[in-house]
Amino acid sequence: MKLNLARTLSPCYSADLRPASERLVSAVGCTVLLMIPPLKASEVVFWEYKTGPQEGVIVNYAFDRPANTSRPYKNRTRFNETDFSLQIVLQRGDDRLYRFRSESEATGWFQLRVVEPLSEPEIVGNSSVKAGGNTKLVCNVLEGKADLYWWKKNGELLLGSDHIQFVDNSTLCIVKASMNDSGYYACVVRNEVSQNETSFLLHVQNAANVVLPVILACVVVGLLAGAAREKGWGERVCAG
Ligand SMILES: *[C@@H]1O[C@H](CO)[C@@H](O)[C@H](O)[C@H]1NC(C)=O
Ligand SMILES: *[C@@H]1O[C@H](CO)[C@@H](O)[C@H](O)[C@H]1NC(C)=O
Ligand SMILES: *[C@@H]1O[C@H](CO)[C@@H](O)[C@H](O)[C@H]1NC(C)=O
Ligand SMILES: *[C@@H]1O[C@H](CO)[C@@H](O)[C@H](O)[C@H]1NC(C)=O
Ligand SMILES: *[C@@H]1O[C@H](CO)[C@@H](O)[C@H](O)[C@H]1NC(C)=O
Ligand SMILES: *[C@@H]1O[C@H](CO)[C@@H](O)[C@H](O)[C@H]1NC(C)=O
Ligand SMILES: *[C@@H]1O[C@H](CO)[C@@H](O)[C@H](O)[C@H]1NC(C)=O
Repeated sequence: MKLNLARTLSPCYSADLRPASERLVSAVGCTVLLMIPPLKASEVVFWEYKTGPQEGVIVNYAFDRPANTSRPYKNRTRFNETDFSLQIVLQRGDDRLYRFRSESEATGWFQLRVVEPLSEPEIVGNSSVKAGGNTKLVCNVLEGKADLYWWKKNGELLLGSDHIQFVDNSTLCIVKASMNDSGYYACVVRNEVSQNETSFLLHVQNAANVVLPVILACVVVGLLAGAAREKGWGERVCAG
């Protein structure tokens, strides 16, 4: 016996809303409805879960008594005593297997995958860099786990090159920044149930804007020691 159907109840647009009978991907905070086919006569029924070797009862119902819901589910489940369906408001730990059982029959284990929607990511970096320097922007996901990262500049997809490098998926390196690299950089993150993004204004300062004594000082320092060291630093930062 299989579950008749499992689905995420609307409104919960981030999750997979298509009904399924063997596996469903849903999101933390969404409500899922689990339903069973018509049942042979029975005196007691159970909804159960399994995580690895650990099994437990979510609700048991003997027809002459009120349904008995186990404590961790009490505030967020609704068991229907007529059709035996179960609604669960999902939490992080609910990514596990579920089944319905009576005295004489049981459904197969149903897999519910529960994914946390991604919050707006955070871009960490230096918003003002000097032309010719290297810089990196790191995209941090604060809630949930991203499966995919990509970057946009002024709304357009950014492609990798010698000049634009992606490290560890979440880090964007700009090698030898020029004034053309100024603009809005957006980091886009995605997982099975959500997509989110944030943007960051990068300003590359023209070295010529800097007053003359500073240029002279930079040139002198650069000639003496800085250039080689700075190059080494850039390579380390941007090669990960
Ligand atoms: C209610 O369910 C819990 C967990 O399944 C069980 O330990 C307890 O004995 C049940 N209580 C009654 C009155 O059925
Ligand atoms: C369930 O929610 C009620 C109020 O909504 C609260 O008083 C109660 O402590 C909660 N119980 C559990 C087990 O979280
Ligand atoms: C329980 O299920 C029956 C039959 O599907 C339905 O008519 C009833 O409205 C449901 N009750 C609740 C509280 O959802
Ligand atoms: C992005 O995350 C914020 C919370 O950080 C949330 O309010 C917003 O709805 C999310 N956007 C999308 C498209 O999911
Ligand atoms: C950002 O860059 C400026 C100029 O390149 C530098 O003076 C400043 O220390 C940097 N800030 C951080 C946090 O790296
Ligand atoms: C980057 O993403 C790919 C798949 O998109 C993954 O295989 C790889 O492990 C990720 N690398 C890091 C450092 O997260
Ligand atoms: C900067 O952009 C302009 C126009 O988009 C282009 O003509 C110029 O070659 C670019 N300069 C650099 C250093 O990439």
